[in-house]
Amino acid sequence: MSTSRLALVTGGIGGLGTAICLRLSELGHRVIAADLDARADALARFHERTRAQATSIQFRALDVTDHDRCREQLTAWEEELGPIDILVHAAGITRDQTLRKMTLEAWREVLAVDLDSAFHLCRHLVPRMMERGFGRIVHISSVNGQTGQFGQTNYAAAKAGLHGFTMSLARECARHGITVNSIAPGYIDTDMTRAIREDIRERIVASIPVGRMGRPEDIARTVAFLCADEADFITGALIPVNGGQFMSF
Ligand code: CAA
Repeated sequence: MSTSRLALVTGGIGGLGTAICLRLSELGHRVIAADLDARADALARFHERTRAQATSIQFRALDVTDHDRCREQLTAWEEELGPIDILVHAAGITRDQTLRKMTLEAWREVLAVDLDSAFHLCRHLVPRMMERGFGRIVHISSVNGQTGQFGQTNYAAAKAGLHGFTMSLARECARHGITVNSIAPGYIDTDMTRAIREDIRERIVASIPVGRMGRPEDIARTVAFLCADEADFITGALIPVNGGQFMSF
């Protein structure tokens, strides 16, 4: 049985993020669901879905692309709520375009939200976790960071980079009771995959051996597994949760 801890879930009001918050709360953790507060419809959906667990899951506005604000806000939250022992970094966006059409803005936006953010969060949290001798960090990467995907040079570069970051940080943290891992979801039924053109999405689903998209809960269960106190010998790993879409060893 894991100790009850304080977890920070970025992208906390998204499809994956909400499922992760709910799962961690069911396991007895307090959860900060951090996300942009600009998307009123997503925020309303999040509050609706987490209402029964509102005492343990709270929304806080955070822009993960802003290094200084991340440091200020994480400091304030730790002063108010206690040490953040678990970081689940699920904030991520796509701006799919083939390279020949990709704007510099689409490149930079994806790298900022999906990759720079990991530095902004970990740079603040890791030294504190080291002082306490405990931490669980899980980065949500992607199968497309492993295989590449048509129209995703930006996203695949960021998600592959995120796992390089994970492996390096895992080595630096290994003697300090902190594990750092990545999960590589395949195509999961969320707003992000619903935005793919229908014919393209159908072709992708047809290529998944289990014959369907994943569910956000598939990812949330894997996060919970990696965040357990007992998962202290798993670090620097990339856990695929993709319905067999990409198999490797
Ligand atoms: N492989 C090879 N060729 C392809 C292709 C593919 N997968 N997809 C399109 N093409 C071809 C088209 O047939 C077309 O050929 P012609 O020029 O000969 O007609 C050409 O490429 C189209 O090129 P365009 O640059 O005009 O592409 P587009 O603007 O029509 O569409 C795209 C580009 C929006 C990126 C579209 O291909 C797409 O949506 N692809 C899917 C991207 C995807 O899977 N995103 C995942 C989002 S979810 C996610 O990322 C979560 C996660 O972690 C898994």
